[in-house]
Amino acid sequence: MAGRLIELPQPRGPLSEQLFAALEGAPGGLAAPSVESADPLADEDLQLALYVAYELHYTDISGVDACWEWDPSLLAFTAALERPFEAAVAELVQPAEAAELESVGEALQGIVAEDPGPPLSRYLEVQGTREQMLEQVVHRSAYQLKEADPHSWAIPRLGPAPKSALLEVQFDEYGGGNAERMHSVLFAKAMAGLGLDPTYGAYLDLWPAPTLAAVNLVTGFGLHRRRRGALVGHLAAFEMTSSIPNRRYGNALRRLGYGPEVTHFYDEHVEADAVHENIAAWDLAGGLARDEPEVAADILFGARALLQVEARWARHLMDSWEGPGTSLRSPLVPVAA
Ligand SMILES: [Fe+2]
Ligand SMILES: [Fe+2]
Repeated sequence: MAGRLIELPQPRGPLSEQLFAALEGAPGGLAAPSVESADPLADEDLQLALYVAYELHYTDISGVDACWEWDPSLLAFTAALERPFEAAVAELVQPAEAAELESVGEALQGIVAEDPGPPLSRYLEVQGTREQMLEQVVHRSAYQLKEADPHSWAIPRLGPAPKSALLEVQFDEYGGGNAERMHSVLFAKAMAGLGLDPTYGAYLDLWPAPTLAAVNLVTGFGLHRRRRGALVGHLAAFEMTSSIPNRRYGNALRRLGYGPEVTHFYDEHVEADAVHENIAAWDLAGGLARDEPEVAADILFGARALLQVEARWARHLMDSWEGPGTSLRSPLVPVAA
């Protein structure tokens, strides 16, 4: 796997149409859009346009001049999408209480204990079908094939104590010096073992708004230094809610007859994240709150935002599966058994 390269997806409305048409030309001159969305988190057009605008920071896009990444008109366009998205996320998140700010590590424990999400991993472990498990993997590939990358944007923005804690987590995420053990590489191997296409961005046209929103949330936190608290809180809550679901996903795959080449990614997270959750909550998030008390509330915001946005994503999957339909934008092309 060399450098990343994705194709422009099919537009889903006027925002993505305008953006993709502009990206095919020379950088500059992208008009600021007027964005009106009743539910920005579920808005296919808004989330796709924002996702592709953000992808300029992660990957080459076929036929798109890489100079678009920092083009002022693109940045203004992106900001116009970010504003309603940020506002919609803020509406889902209850503000931190003063007592919580006294111990951010403890507050995070309380927040993840009240995870608002439906029991998706439990459902898949016990009764999910092979098709449903494959869909779940296709959704997660939107994040997992760049696992850890958005959180790495926090590195230059933290003081020594939280920075070294973050690097301790990231060192494992990136394979501890062995590219074959990198979590994004393990995920790609799991996809290949399931007969799915592990190419970065291969399923972009299939990811619905709730899936894109989950990635846009962390990319937005990552790209804005002012949201470093939220980015750290997002990572802490991510690590703290990873071990048990990953054990269940691994069990689901074993029940469906898959072997270690597919379950390795999940088994690795059962072990690794049991360690990461403590480092992330106490040394990283707690360390940042001690260094910069003014961002403590945003640390908790990032944790709550992750849980709320993931809950909407999980609900989307489970609601879709109540009928005969797919949770993706169109059914997966059948893959080899
Ligand atoms: Fe990981
Ligand atoms: Fe982890």
